[in-house]
Amino acid sequence: MRQPLVAGNWKMNGTKASVESLLSELKAGFSDALNAEVAVCPSYIFLEQAAAALKGTGIALGSQNVCDQDKGAFTGEVSAPMLKEAGVKYAIVGHSERRHVYGEADALVAARFAAAKRGGLIPILCVGEKLEEREANITEKVVAAQIDAVIDLLGIEGLQGSVIAYEPVWAIGTGKTASPEQAQAVHAFIRAKLAKQDAALADSMQILYGGSMNAANAADLLSQADIDGGLIGGAALKAEDFLTICRAG
Ligand code: 13P
Repeated sequence: MRQPLVAGNWKMNGTKASVESLLSELKAGFSDALNAEVAVCPSYIFLEQAAAALKGTGIALGSQNVCDQDKGAFTGEVSAPMLKEAGVKYAIVGHSERRHVYGEADALVAARFAAAKRGGLIPILCVGEKLEEREANITEKVVAAQIDAVIDLLGIEGLQGSVIAYEPVWAIGTGKTASPEQAQAVHAFIRAKLAKQDAALADSMQILYGGSMNAANAADLLSQADIDGGLIGGAALKAEDFLTICRAG
């Protein structure tokens, strides 16, 4: 059985003080008895603060990106070894805001994925189509190409020990959640695609949904057969909402 994973992507939000209070609210409401594994992904600058606050709790830490290189002259980047040292477990790669606001192409995302693995982090590979791509009926083609960039670089076995997050771009931060059926269809497509190359890998792969998931719609989404958790943006900034989603997982 796949354990659900609920991860909060805090994006570029927070201050030292607000991070401190969000973390203490999460710790107060968190229980080891939850079915889902829980992680939070604050901005780089807050990672060490969060690592200290979360020490000894069951809440894991993730980063919002990772450099494709391990060290050197890469101004503005943060490497997997640095993140590992800071106590990070998961690294989001290929988030739609990285792809579409900052122009990260599939090949760079794959290289970042590889660097995360090399550094002992668990990559959370985000994939998802834009609205015009859904309307042009090329959702599966877009998502397949985003996954194939990683497979081309590392082979299918490279996906072992990673997580995939399906985040339709049109659903992110818009309040327009994919319906459980729409999301399930893409999740099932992803799993079937992986199964063609490695059935055991496909069966064990955690495929998260992200895009306007909130306390009210989480249970319906998470009850779908191929939805193994969530990557939560806005609702992860409110402890009670995030914990409600974690309990639904
Ligand atoms: P929202 O939950 O705010 O739509 O963001 C989803 C997301 O981008 C998580 O990575």
